[in-house]
Amino acid sequence: LRTRVLDAVAQASDEATLEDLRVSTVGKKGEVSLKMRELGRMSPEERQVAGPALNALKDEVNSALAAKKAALADAALDERLRSEWLDVTLPARPDRVGTIHPISQVTEEVTAIFADMGFAVAEGPQIESDWYNFDALNIPSHHPARGEMDTFYMSRAEGDNRPPHVLRTHTSPVQIRSMQEKGAPIRVICPGRVYRADYDQTHTPMFHQIEGLAIDKTISMANLKWVLEEFVKAFFEVDDVELRFRASHFPFTEPSAEVDIRCSWDGGQLKVGEGDDWLEILGSGMVHPKVLEAGGIDPADWQGFAFGMGIDRIAMLKYGIPDLRAFFDSDLRWLKHYGFSS
Ligand code: PHE
Repeated sequence: LRTRVLDAVAQASDEATLEDLRVSTVGKKGEVSLKMRELGRMSPEERQVAGPALNALKDEVNSALAAKKAALADAALDERLRSEWLDVTLPARPDRVGTIHPISQVTEEVTAIFADMGFAVAEGPQIESDWYNFDALNIPSHHPARGEMDTFYMSRAEGDNRPPHVLRTHTSPVQIRSMQEKGAPIRVICPGRVYRADYDQTHTPMFHQIEGLAIDKTISMANLKWVLEEFVKAFFEVDDVELRFRASHFPFTEPSAEVDIRCSWDGGQLKVGEGDDWLEILGSGMVHPKVLEAGGIDPADWQGFAFGMGIDRIAMLKYGIPDLRAFFDSDLRWLKHYGFSS
């Protein structure tokens, strides 16, 4: 029995086999245990010999089981150490570093140029009340300009009596908010997202504008012209520009002008400051007295200019990008092609 059991223990190749062996030998109904029960029926003389022998066998089997169990665990650990290794000499995977989105880059550039001329940055909400987006800007309910703006209206549950809201169609409502917050005099620029239901090569339903507003006692269109000239020179990195003020109409400015810059197209790339073409870059004018009033500023004492410019549009022009929609595709190949990503 002893040899058979000890051989089986030595042969066992996993823990489950060891456990079976334990149960069938030194377990309650195991072979060794059954033999121990027979001790009771033996003569004292026999018992004196068999008792210690069986106890010794039991101890021997138990320690053989424990030793084998430890050996199996060691072997398993060795095996893990052999298979789970790490090659620290492998080259690291290339780390792709993100970059600032081109529209954000251009926004920062434009903001910095105006900051140099003393303009502070102001922001307003993208979900705007109908009053700030339209009424306060001298666009009353049935004004045709409301229809032309392709406005996204916020839907309201029945019984919701809050004033109507829209996704702002331009950054001009921030003019009103700035006047109300700061009072006159004011010099701010307001960059941000605006929304219109329109989609083609040069229109996306979400795009970006930057609004400029300067209010003081004697601000005139001459100041507007100088500020814009300085901006165009700095932004397009040219020494000289020629601006053309074209009479236009906006409900919130009087007089109003659209501003073009002299340019040429050299093989698809824009050249600013020379040539026979004109390129429209923004809308502008003197702030309408009704708009000053809506902002809580007395038009008898104060006057000012305002302008609104499409950030995406001037970014397309500066970088020679033909399709506005690509800005919002997040295509890494496109970003790399235009040098917007590493
Ligand atoms: N808000 C006008 C637009 O979106 C631009 C503009 C701003 C015109 C300020 C004049 C003055 O087209």
